[in-house]
Amino acid sequence: MRKGPCHGKLWPFCEAGGKDAAGTQRKGQDVARHLITSAIPYINGIKHLGNLVGSQLPADLYARYLRGRGHEVLFLCATDEHGTPAELAAAKAGQPVAEYCAEMHQVQARLAEGFRLSFDHFGRSSSPQNHRLTQHFAGRLADAGLIEDVSERQVYSVADRRFLPDRYIEGTCPNCGYDRARGDQCENCTKQLDPTDLINPRSAISGSTDLEVRETKHLYLRQSAMRKQLSDWIDSKADWPILTTSIAKKWLNDGDGLQDRGITRDLDWGVPVRRGDRDWPGMEGKVFYVWFDAPIEYIACAQEWQDAGKGADWERWWRTDKGADDVRYTQFMGKDNVPFHTLSFPVTIMGSGEPWKLVDYIKSFNYLNYDGGQFSTSQGRGVFMDQALSILPADYWRWWLLSHAPETADSEFTWENFQASVNKDLADVLGNFVSRVTKFCRSKFGEAVPEGGEWGARETALVADLEARVRAYERHMDAIEVRKAAAELRAIWAAGNEYLQAAGPWTVIKTDPETAAMQTRLGLNLIRLYAVLSAPFIPDAAATMLGAIGAEGAGWPGDLATALTALPAGHGFEVPEVLFAKISDEDRAEWQARFAGVRT
Ligand code: MF3
Ligand code: ZN
Repeated sequence: MRKGPCHGKLWPFCEAGGKDAAGTQRKGQDVARHLITSAIPYINGIKHLGNLVGSQLPADLYARYLRGRGHEVLFLCATDEHGTPAELAAAKAGQPVAEYCAEMHQVQARLAEGFRLSFDHFGRSSSPQNHRLTQHFAGRLADAGLIEDVSERQVYSVADRRFLPDRYIEGTCPNCGYDRARGDQCENCTKQLDPTDLINPRSAISGSTDLEVRETKHLYLRQSAMRKQLSDWIDSKADWPILTTSIAKKWLNDGDGLQDRGITRDLDWGVPVRRGDRDWPGMEGKVFYVWFDAPIEYIACAQEWQDAGKGADWERWWRTDKGADDVRYTQFMGKDNVPFHTLSFPVTIMGSGEPWKLVDYIKSFNYLNYDGGQFSTSQGRGVFMDQALSILPADYWRWWLLSHAPETADSEFTWENFQASVNKDLADVLGNFVSRVTKFCRSKFGEAVPEGGEWGARETALVADLEARVRAYERHMDAIEVRKAAAELRAIWAAGNEYLQAAGPWTVIKTDPETAAMQTRLGLNLIRLYAVLSAPFIPDAAATMLGAIGAEGAGWPGDLATALTALPAGHGFEVPEVLFAKISDEDRAEWQARFAGVRT
């Protein structure tokens, strides 16, 4: 059942966010359910900050925000473990591929925790659940007449003694002329490719050009048969970001974006090709293409979540016949992933003829560059997740990355900019506010919220200003406008600082202690407000702030006059440890040099 409007017109079926003005959680029919997935990172190696800000981190921001507003959230991610990249990385590490994947999954899971990514489950595309579900979908698609056997001529590398699938052939893009396009996709123009489309192909494994084309039989998904259904569906998504729809429409309407696609490969590692639970004659020894099984893991991950004992009734998130009609499903990804999520995966879902939930909103991102160039996994250029956490806590990175998210254009990480943002926004504005208010109060009134005094014109004006700003912040967060939300949050912090500066309780106390007490009380309540609002961006600092002022359970603010009187006189608090240390010029220079080159 659809319910009344909330959060403006964006969410037609969820009523007002689940906490009332006093911050009490409201349960029941007015709490909407949100399914959130992040593109699942490849297993082969630790991701860099550009990967992180392109999907997992903004997905976490949104999940934390919605939970903060009292909604029920299922936030899923996983490792993408199949395909040639995993096989080759394992070979390079001298490990059996299953063992390599198990280890790297653990590594990625720990780093996700380090960055405070609040997945309800971090699954694996190699899970038995995903094997079964992938084979199930293939069987349904075949029954629907959407799968064809094709005798294919495929590139075989004589030097490497293997077929060279997708990304292990490099060559020139037939669409834009980029000379390092991969066999599955051109990074430069995002066109999905087949390996045989490439001009001047060479093996990405050995560089050998001794390639021949051999016959092999493969399954093709008849995407073209779904063109009308897909294009109607995409047309119905008038509220999607331009980046998402422009890529989707480009490949839908330029004709060949919706070519029938091979969904099987001659590889050992992957989901064996079966038709549901039956053998698939002629397909022995082959596996499904990694891009066929990876998005199915979004669904399988919910089963893994349940099977791990973390939840129940996974189908209520994924099956529209089992309650998922009421779910709002949001996907996060980098722009190179958009064609797979707007075309290929929806074809799998729609083509199955079963009532699986389709995505409601796709938030996609441009690229983050690194200090005048690109992040490069192969050259170890830029900062990788493990390295980032070894030099500074997660909140510093989260704040910079989210407040500079590459939303409308590519953005760039520079150490100067990182240093400036951290020192100004986090240390000078937020950190300094918290420390000034709590230290002043301790020294003049003791470690409890002081009593006395009444709000005057300055306080009324501040509250009105914050009322407007907090509602704007909510609108940006509801719309997943990450940079705008960060800018509004920064302005909310700054408003408190300006108030404190103008009010000057350290002077006022000399002549009018009652008023100084009132100002200080308001300052302490602002800390509580800031902690709640900031938690989606900087969860650790927010927890420290709430702990210090003894407001751990504080809920999302309703009207600001109420929210800013939540801490009553007499309520105890402590001065917290320093929230954010400044980055020195020496540190900055050292890090800049350390991460410029080859990763060791
Ligand atoms: N592993 C892919 C990448 O990093 C993303 C896969 S997303 C999913 O680009 F749809 F396949 F799940
Ligand atoms: Zn191209």
